[in-house]
Amino acid sequence: MKDQAEILRKKLRRRHGLKPKTKAVAVVSGKGGVGKSNFSLNFSISLSKRGYSVLLFDMDVGMGNLDILMGRSSEKTIVDYLTGDSKLADIILEGPEGVKYIGGGTGLNQLVNLERLGTLTNELDAFLEEYDYLIFDMGAGINESSLKFLLSVHEIFVITTPEPTALMDAYAIIKYLHVLDEKLPFQIVANRTQSHQDGTATLKRLTDVVKKFLDFDPVSLGILPDDRSVQQAVSRQIPFTMFNPKSKASLALDELVNRYLEGAKQIPVQQSSSFVSRLKKFLFER
Ligand SMILES: Nc1ncnc2c1ncn2[C@@H]1O[C@H](COP(=O)(O)OP(=O)(O)OP(=O)(O)O)[C@@H](O)[C@H]1O
Ligand SMILES: [Mg+2]
Repeated sequence: MKDQAEILRKKLRRRHGLKPKTKAVAVVSGKGGVGKSNFSLNFSISLSKRGYSVLLFDMDVGMGNLDILMGRSSEKTIVDYLTGDSKLADIILEGPEGVKYIGGGTGLNQLVNLERLGTLTNELDAFLEEYDYLIFDMGAGINESSLKFLLSVHEIFVITTPEPTALMDAYAIIKYLHVLDEKLPFQIVANRTQSHQDGTATLKRLTDVVKKFLDFDPVSLGILPDDRSVQQAVSRQIPFTMFNPKSKASLALDELVNRYLEGAKQIPVQQSSSFVSRLKKFLFER
């Protein structure tokens, strides 16, 4: 639960007209199927349980499956917004544990343009600043329209597994984005590890190569074990932290979120500009 001091700080900031800024986080990977959607959903649930307001976006537009992971279906999705058929307010849905979410829509034939997210900036700004966290569950890899988007968030979480192919692709995506904006902060997660040692070795492999070739230190966010209860939760369409809160994966995620929030206290988002103003800059000023 969010501690009293934090709630008080927030009230004080509001009273002085200093609203805490919304933090925008994109969850990415190079290789597909490494656990981004499960991570995004359960990370959002954990933040929400601690009292933070979270808006979770399924940005795997056209192939979204976050709603399947939570056993719901979304009548309206981000596709309805991006194609101009719906207002933002109409596509925000109630997820588990108070998480609000926006579905990604299915059907590959939907040709949509993520850049529309930058067009209604006033509406967007007013809407999004109500939340403490915006979590974007991205599709694997990068394409032209997700790129500007990724360069606009405050933090990028890179998910990898211990497999060399996943690690290589994780490095490739970090390199690609870092070259375009060297200030972009990366946090890495090792998912589906066989042991704690396997996890630390995975994180070390990736940080070592980033340090060596890109000359910066990504933050190691945490390790999530390979856990059959995650697969069972997916089959049952229940978020894994709710399916079994005491499973190894759920306990590890809990620890990861605690560590993340500790770190976030040290690097508040206040100084940097909002996600929407950053996005606007990328779309119109470059
Ligand atoms: N910690 C874990 N332990 C066991 N299995 C896992 C774990 N994390 C993910 N999986 C398995 O991997 C599958 C894919 O996970 P998920 O859909 O979250 O990946 P993704 O990166 O979002 O995939 P995509 O690139 O297609 O969007 C899950 O359905 C589950 O079976
Ligand atoms: Mg996914």
